[in-house]
Amino acid sequence: MFLDFEELSGQERYKLLTATIVPRPIALVTTRNEDGSTNAAPFSFFNVFSEDPPLVVLGLQSRPDFSLKDTTLNIRRTGEFVVNLVDESIAGAMVVCGADFAPDVSEIPAAGFTLQKSPKIDVDRIVEAPFSFACRRVTVLQFTKIRDLAIGEILGFTAREGLVDKQSLRVDWDVYQPVGRLYADQYIRTRDRFSMTIPSPEEIGNATP
Ligand SMILES: Cc1cc2nc3c(=O)[nH]c(=O)nc-3n(C[C@H](O)[C@H](O)[C@H](O)COP(=O)(O)O)c2cc1C
Repeated sequence: MFLDFEELSGQERYKLLTATIVPRPIALVTTRNEDGSTNAAPFSFFNVFSEDPPLVVLGLQSRPDFSLKDTTLNIRRTGEFVVNLVDESIAGAMVVCGADFAPDVSEIPAAGFTLQKSPKIDVDRIVEAPFSFACRRVTVLQFTKIRDLAIGEILGFTAREGLVDKQSLRVDWDVYQPVGRLYADQYIRTRDRFSMTIPSPEEIGNATP
């Protein structure tokens, strides 16, 4: 079966893409509103794409009425944002931030989050998040007036106590329990892990009957 994307509507493509390209990490993005308050919203059209320079990308869609989301407006205006990653301990509070609050209502108290100033940028981070990446906009690719891809450079991250060993830079995976987004309101834990080592060409050759 081949599904021709040129013959599908945007909504149909969204349905297929978000149900197949899974799990997606979740960026709980904080940005600074025009009045100086902090906005928070989750984005799963998100990932890291490079370490040198260290780049993240956010897929910012419009609302169903085609208006721009506060996150989009804020990144366009200030050029700064924080990617707060989401683990099991803050997953429930993260979805609260997905509610379509009026621009003058802050998601932060509704979700029970605490804010703290980020190093290097003028956007607050979420204290309860396992990791908060301070990002500066490199560019925003504006595909249409209502569809942006924001590319940000990571200036550094703040880690919750006990997650990273400062000497070895190892993340403790017994403590860090990130969640990913599946389709619609479905999420996944990352507890069922297994390891695979890339074999050498010789090992592959020996295994071939
Ligand atoms: C887990 C999750 C992932 C989401 N991912 C995206 C996304 O990648 N892009 C997007 O535009 N909206 C996404 N949303 C919806 C926004 O979070 C939602 O529209 C939010 O109200 C936007 O807030 P803002 O107007 O304060 O920026 C997601 C929602 C949830 C709960």
